[in-house]
Amino acid sequence: MNIKQYIASIPGFPKEGIIFRDVTPILKNPDCMKYVTEKLSAFAKEVKADLIIAPEARGFFFGIPVALECHVGFAPVRKPGKLPRKTMSQTYQLEYGVDELQMHIDAIQEGMRVVIIDDLLATGGTVEAMIKMVEFKQAIVAGIGFVIELDDLKGKEKFKDIPVLSLTHFE
Ligand code: PRP
Ligand code: ADE
Repeated sequence: MNIKQYIASIPGFPKEGIIFRDVTPILKNPDCMKYVTEKLSAFAKEVKADLIIAPEARGFFFGIPVALECHVGFAPVRKPGKLPRKTMSQTYQLEYGVDELQMHIDAIQEGMRVVIIDDLLATGGTVEAMIKMVEFKQAIVAGIGFVIELDDLKGKEKFKDIPVLSLTHFE
């Protein structure tokens, strides 16, 4: 399966100089969605995941089917103020300024093998913040799976010691 044909590229969105890689055509195609879910799930099983976590919003598209396929739980990572119970937070660097992600404090138990799933790796800031929350709970990031990796941004250098699978690459 060549999944690149199910990724739309939109130059100039959301701003000048960015080529936006849009995964919604994958969601529309059940064969491609099945392929992506199976590939990411095989990786998560290989690294012995017992919890999948993913950031809103596009991470949820892939994290939840992977958790189902692996028959393990799923925990959402959200922007501030969205989760109703006690949370932990982690700030992270954006191109200009900082942002913050939150998880329920009881989403991860000590010693768990957590796999992070997201649609796309750019600078790696999002995933780096998630790794810090997993480690705060004294759990292990067993692996990180992406549909798309943007190679030129070298995001993977932020997590050198963790197994990473990216299903396709763009410059
Ligand atoms: C996008 C994308 C990744 C993140 C990658 O999410 O879905 O989660 O950016 O960028 P990074 O590697 O530089 O951190 P975004 O924050 O745009 O949110 P969305 O999924 O709600 O659109
Ligand atoms: N998030 C960060 N960079 C992106 C890009 N080029 N396309 C889609 N999502 C992104």
